Amino acid sequence: MEELSIDTKNILGLKLPTDPRWVDLTALQLEEILTDHAYCEQKAATTCISLIQRYSDREKLVKELSPIVTEEWGHFRQVLAELQKRQLKLGKQRKDVYVNKLLEFQRKGGHPDERFLDQLLTMALIEARSCERFKRLSEGLDDKYLRNFYRRFMESEAGHYTLFINLAEHYLDKKTVRKRWLEWLKYEKEVMKEMELRGDRIH
Ligand SMILES: [Fe+2]
Ligand SMILES: [Fe+2]
Repeated sequence: MEELSIDTKNILGLKLPTDPRWVDLTALQLEEILTDHAYCEQKAATTCISLIQRYSDREKLVKELSPIVTEEWGHFRQVLAELQKRQLKLGKQRKDVYVNKLLEFQRKGGHPDERFLDQLLTMALIEARSCERFKRLSEGLDDKYLRNFYRRFMESEAGHYTLFINLAEHYLDKKTVRKRWLEWLKYEKEVMKEMELRGDRIH
């Protein structure tokens, strides 16, 4: 357990590891956590489509995000299949407190580059935190099948986190990206601290 907590602490630079009790809570609410997970994947796909629409002149972004849309939608379908297999229902989408809190930190005015950077870093952060949460589930759940199920998601989301950071560094000065990323990590830690510990949601 000790090794796991150090590893999780360091994962992807996140400043606050997930409370270990969260894993046990999710095990009690499988239908709800799968529903929430499905919508996280849907939102990831939708946001990538929006970024492509908004920044259609940025060739590298369009080229690299297009397959991510397919991948995230594939994830949605995998989670949906898991619900169906278990005769569970895809419930309603909840209010996403975590993501809404992150959106509050995005700079709305200022230079278009600043807004662009914040949009990419928001995505990187959501991918990083999702990855950390999937890692928790893949290591902490009693059910071996589910541990493997989440391990696969953990691996894809880790790749996505890097992709968004790399995209930011492609279009903007590395030092600027680094500096702002650290601000985001600090902010996200505070958001996580305030979040209620609930087993029916990924974040
Ligand atoms: Fe995904
Ligand atoms: Fe992702």
